[in-house]
Amino acid sequence: MMKFPSDLLEALRAAQHIAVLTGAGASAESGVPTFRDAQTGLWAQFDPEELATPEAFRRNPKLVWEWYAWRRTLVERAQPNPGHFALVEMERHAPQFTLITQNVDGLHQLAGSRNVIELHGNIRRYKCFACETPHSGPLPEGEIPTCASCGGLLRPDVVWFGECLPAQAYRVALEAAQTCDVFFSVGTSGLVEPAASLPRIARRALATVVTINLDVKTEWSPNAYAIHGKSGEVLPALVSAAWG
Ligand code: APR
Repeated sequence: MMKFPSDLLEALRAAQHIAVLTGAGASAESGVPTFRDAQTGLWAQFDPEELATPEAFRRNPKLVWEWYAWRRTLVERAQPNPGHFALVEMERHAPQFTLITQNVDGLHQLAGSRNVIELHGNIRRYKCFACETPHSGPLPEGEIPTCASCGGLLRPDVVWFGECLPAQAYRVALEAAQTCDVFFSVGTSGLVEPAASLPRIARRALATVVTINLDVKTEWSPNAYAIHGKSGEVLPALVSAAWG
């Protein structure tokens, strides 16, 4: 039985608005390899930062397509884990709930979360590299599928290095960080901006901030809780301790 401080459980029960930011660690127990962990076999020779850029796509669209096709097969094998389901449950209890994710795997939606803000896009979607029109329906035949409206090359609808975050998604995330009562940071290293500054913004706005990560030591201080552990274990335990 995991024990949590009673003031944290009270803060959760009293919260009008809970915001959660997730990163690769939230999908780790689903077997989704991180960016770097996916670089095995044939792909080991490539640096992901040289594949996930608009320049790389311009230089060699076929290579980038094949890499994403490979990463997509890895994502499609994965299923949501108990951490994803605990967040679905949390959404039911919180009067207002915003789930912000840096993951592109769509596992939160698959688990049943409704209000998901995707900061880095979704690897299961495509858009036109030239005119950005989202692609719907099955992928057209051909080595690199093309856009139905302009004939440009289709690309995965994810945020590449050097690209801006989707403006509307980022606005909603920022507002959630500024206005929530409790902010969770789950399975994210906090190294990639601007998502990394959201917990800081929440803290400045006097939210209770909860970090769940394998990388932290468990520590409580007023309104800031760090919980060392796997999100697939900590989140279900915390949700049942608060509302079970
Ligand atoms: N439970 C909780 N935390 C975990 C777990 C787990 N089961 N497994 C790993 N972690 C933690 C690690 O300790 C690490 O701090 O999750 C974090 C994952 O960090 P990153 O791999 O840097 O992932 P993320 O923070 O999502 O990276 C941000 O960078 O790679 C790019 O665009 C990509 O969206 C990604 C962004």
